[in-house]
Amino acid sequence: MENASESHSDLTTREDVRTVVQAFYHDIAEDPSIGAFFDDVDMQAHVPKLVDFWCSVVFQTGTYRGRPFHAHAALNGLNADHFTRWLDRFESIIDERFAGPNAEQMKSRARHIATIFQSKLGVLRDEDVAERFG
Ligand code: HEM
Repeated sequence: MENASESHSDLTTREDVRTVVQAFYHDIAEDPSIGAFFDDVDMQAHVPKLVDFWCSVVFQTGTYRGRPFHAHAALNGLNADHFTRWLDRFESIIDERFAGPNAEQMKSRARHIATIFQSKLGVLRDEDVAERFG
């Protein structure tokens, strides 16, 4: 892993963010844990929205003006295992392609937002609270 990350450069452009977002959703339907949640999602609309979201988070572009949590409140049965899988998938997709401060920031912001979402959904595990804030 150490060697792999040394050969990658950091994520610096909107195109880099698009690479990550597209890879994340590319075959999401086949993911045995979280794929089904995306069955009815219009990816043509979702992917550009998520590129805006992540550019706003990592580069402070202000291109996303939505309510990120809102859609998740309607997903029945969403639990901590799903978030673990979401984060593993997201982090490996970044690590396989990029390495540097922005890549690290994207992963840590994802963990932070996932914690907030789980807290709002009432599915946050005690040990995850301890790990983050303990
Ligand atoms: C297991 C965890 C997750 C599942 C199953 C999930 C699933 C979804 C689904 C189904 C949508 C609605 C798509 C649509 O029809 O427009 C959505 C939207 C979105 N998700 Fe997630 N999500 C998860 C975790 C996360 C996390 C951790 C983040 C951020 C770090 C995130 C960021 C977003 C954003 C920004 C939107 C767009 C909201 C909008 O409409 O403005 N999601 N997600």
